[in-house]
Amino acid sequence: MSDIDNNLHIDDLEQPVVIPTEAYISPEYARAESEKLWRKVWLQAGREEDLPEVGDFLTFDVGVDTILITRPAADTIKAFHNVCPHRGRRLVDTPAGQHNAKGRRNQFICAYHGWRFNQDGENTHVPEKQDWQGALDNGCADLASVKCETWGGWIWINMDPDCEPLKDFLEPVTTMLDPFQLQNMRVRWRKWGIFDCNWKVAMEAFNETYHVQTTHPEFNRYGNFRGWARAQGERGLHSNIGYDTPKDMDENQSAKLRVGTTADPRITTAELQNYTWENANTNTTQTLVDAANRLKDELPEGTPAGEVLMHWLKTAREDDAAKGVIWPEVEPAHVGKSGTAWQIFPNFQIGHAVNNMLCYSARPYGNDPDKCIFEGAVYQLFPEGEEPKAEWEYCEATAEAWCYVLGQDFSNMAAVQQGMKSAGFMGPRPNPYMERATANLHRNLANYMGAGAPRKLK
Ligand code: FES
Ligand SMILES: [Fe+2]
Repeated sequence: MSDIDNNLHIDDLEQPVVIPTEAYISPEYARAESEKLWRKVWLQAGREEDLPEVGDFLTFDVGVDTILITRPAADTIKAFHNVCPHRGRRLVDTPAGQHNAKGRRNQFICAYHGWRFNQDGENTHVPEKQDWQGALDNGCADLASVKCETWGGWIWINMDPDCEPLKDFLEPVTTMLDPFQLQNMRVRWRKWGIFDCNWKVAMEAFNETYHVQTTHPEFNRYGNFRGWARAQGERGLHSNIGYDTPKDMDENQSAKLRVGTTADPRITTAELQNYTWENANTNTTQTLVDAANRLKDELPEGTPAGEVLMHWLKTAREDDAAKGVIWPEVEPAHVGKSGTAWQIFPNFQIGHAVNNMLCYSARPYGNDPDKCIFEGAVYQLFPEGEEPKAEWEYCEATAEAWCYVLGQDFSNMAAVQQGMKSAGFMGPRPNPYMERATANLHRNLANYMGAGAPRKLK
C-alpha cells in the first residue's frame, strides 16, 4: 500500500502520529515539490500596495519558477511566467541580493534578442519577425499567463490553469479573517533571509505554542496558557491556533496578551507590552504600548484582570481613533473562534488582530531541501499618509539582525534540520493537541505529493 493510501483522515488528527522525515530532508521529495505542490496551489506573492500605479511590476520566485506580476490598469493585476518565449531567458532579472525585482515599465524587453512585451503580457515586437513566416501570430509569442487574484490586500498566484477560484481554496480563512480587514493594514517592517532548513521546519517554528515555555522562557512569568491547534474547513486544508483560557475572559486576546494570571495586571500588562515591543517588535503597536503604560495611573490597584484588559483596549482604540485610525469591530465570539493565527496551506501564516498582524512565509530555495527563503512581516493600521515605506530587508537568521525573540525561534531551525538526518530519529511526533497544525500540514502535503503521509503512532 502506498503512503498516500494510508494517509490520515481529518478525524484522525486527534491521535498521536509520526511524520516521515522525507518531506524535510529528501532531495527527491524537494525536487518533486515544484511539479506537485508549488505549481498546484494558490501562493501569496506580494501586497497590492506594492503595485500602486499602472505600469508597476514585481517578480516572485518559488523553487525553480519565477513569476512576473503587473498592473496593466488601475483595477487590474495580472501574472505571467517570467520567461521569454523565444529561447527561455528569464525576462526580468532579480537584482543580486534583492528580495525581488520591482519597478515601473510599460514594456518588458528581453535582454537576449530584444523581444518585447506589454503589461498584458502581449508580444509587441520581434526583431526580424517575418523570418517566422507568420508562426508567431495569434498570441503564440505572448507571455504564458498565470492565475492571479487578490484577498486580504495580498496578490495570490496559481500556476495551475485549472485551479479552483482563490476564495474556494482559502475558505474558511476568508470568512474568519474578513472582519479583521487585513487589507487596510500596511507594512511596518518586513525582512527576509535564506535559512539553513527546509521551508517546513521554518513554518513549524511558528504554528504552535508548545515551544513558548522552553524557547521563550521570558514569557513564563506572565502565565502559561495552554494553546490548541485545529484543522479548519470541510477539507481541513488550513489550520489555526489559539489558547484555552478561563471562560470569563476574551479567550484568545487575553492569553496572547497574557493578561490576568499574575500579580497586578496593570503592571504586568505594561511590562509585557514593553518587552514585546523592544524584543520582538511584533503583535503590538506604539498605541497599545502607550496605553498599557498609562494603566497604573488610570486604574486603581486591585482592578480585576478582565477590566484591565477591557480598559486598555478601549483607551488604545480611542487613541487610535483620535488619529483617524479606526479599528474594525469584531464580535468577541468571532475573535475567540478565529484564534491567534492561521496557517494557510501550504506556506503562509497570518497572526491576526484588529489593528496589527504578524505574517510568516517560507518557500524552497531552488531545489535544496536544506535551505529556504524565509520572510517575516509586521503590518498595522496607520493614519492615512503616515504609512512607512518599508521595503524588504535582507537579514541573516540572527537575533541581532531580526530581534531577540525571533532569534530564539531561529536558533532551533538549522539544529532541527540537521537532527532530522540522524539515524536515531524516527520522525517528528507532534503534540496531538497543541501541534496539530503540523500533522495537518503533512496530511495535506501527502495528498498533493503522494508521499510523506503521517502514520498513527500506536
Ligand atoms: S530569449 Fe528573449 S529574445 Fe531571445
Ligand atoms: Fe516562538
